[in-house]
Amino acid sequence: MDKLLISGGNSLKGEISIAGAKNAVLPAMAVALLTEGDSEIRNVPLLNDIKMMSHLLRIIGTKVDYRDNTLYLDTKHCSFCEAPYELVSKMRASIYVLSPLLARFGRAHVSLPGGCAIGARPIDLHLKSLQKMGVEIKIENGYINAQVDKLKGADIFFDKSSVGATITVLMAAVTAEGITNIINAAIEPEVIYIIELLQAMGANITGKSTTELVVKGVKKLKPVDTEVIADRIEAGTFMIAAAITRGDVKVINCIPHHLFSLMEKLQEAGCQLEYGPDWIHIIAAKKIRSVNITTKPYPGFPTDLQAQFLALMTVAEGTSIIEENIFPERFHHVPELNRLDASIELDDHRAIIKGVKELSSAPVMATDLRASAALVLAGLTAKGTTTLSRVYHLDRGYEKMENKLQKLGADIVRSH
Ligand code: UD1
Repeated sequence: MDKLLISGGNSLKGEISIAGAKNAVLPAMAVALLTEGDSEIRNVPLLNDIKMMSHLLRIIGTKVDYRDNTLYLDTKHCSFCEAPYELVSKMRASIYVLSPLLARFGRAHVSLPGGCAIGARPIDLHLKSLQKMGVEIKIENGYINAQVDKLKGADIFFDKSSVGATITVLMAAVTAEGITNIINAAIEPEVIYIIELLQAMGANITGKSTTELVVKGVKKLKPVDTEVIADRIEAGTFMIAAAITRGDVKVINCIPHHLFSLMEKLQEAGCQLEYGPDWIHIIAAKKIRSVNITTKPYPGFPTDLQAQFLALMTVAEGTSIIEENIFPERFHHVPELNRLDASIELDDHRAIIKGVKELSSAPVMATDLRASAALVLAGLTAKGTTTLSRVYHLDRGYEKMENKLQKLGADIVRSH
């Protein structure tokens, strides 16, 4: 199994280009299933999660090709309505095929996702909403057995903001009979991207505000033809990498306004930031100040950058408190960071981090994608050579992260 060997101490310097957003590509691929035809998704990075979703779409009967960062999906011959356990248990976003299968074939047999490395992640909001739209759902032998004659518009209120459930309902509503009102829709950039994608395909989606959506079902949609938005989490990870190594990095091909919450916190920590239409330049502070963060739905601080920011706080001056409100158990990186001589205590869904002068190397491993990224960042500043195993978690969401870091001057190599 691959490992990363990271020798800490080099300041990152230079320019780095950001890839398309994994969390936008995955639902866009599911959206293609709503149509019968040839879809094209551009600016797609070669990530393990995208390979897994491609595999799932092939099982369903889609012809999938990937060339020059573009996915070509031919959904004319889809007919198999199943998402098997082997795939859904590895990648929860597989649940995204549920609505398109129901919209197109009136039935779906999708495995329940089960537990996950970042804690309990229920799908009750997805299922309750689909039931309101007329879907009959039975949970049998670990699978969701769902069927419907014709999806019907409904009033959907989310008592919690959910990216996944909002996209599930949007995909069900766009070709349903009648009108669906979605109240308290998630407004993460990836949700807005999917709304705009569906509108370009002929969907009728309007809103009183971005959190209150009105979807009038249409008969048919055009195939997907889209360029994916930049990955705000990859961009944020490189910005934090610049800060933790006291570097000077220009992140290009990104969308700065998707990253305001992080920019604000990096400035509070003492970093200098400038940005233009599609770039952010960060010059790290010599001494990083401790900063508190609380994760929240967008536009609040994203849970997907919590682990990386926590890594930065391990070498800040003073004590910081990081509160995780989206996935309260998402702290598996903490014991690993403590192995690198960080000083972090956990108190329920809070981490209390006492900044130390220096981290030192150790063998570490991660249990999830963003925790792996946090350990890479810690390794970049730790004294000595840190070995990170289970790199497959990192490869789920970052395209050749070590190559990009090498380009910025990091001493990081992959060993097979
Ligand atoms: C998506 C992202 C993930 C990110 C998360 C929050 C993808 C593929 N993944 O995950 O990277 O960390 O948004 O920004 O886009 N919840 C329920 N019931 C449900 C659904 C969700 O209680 O049916 C809860 C979750 O446990 C969590 C909160 O709602 O506490 C938000 O989760 P949600 O936005 O749905 O996350 P995902 O869509 O799974």
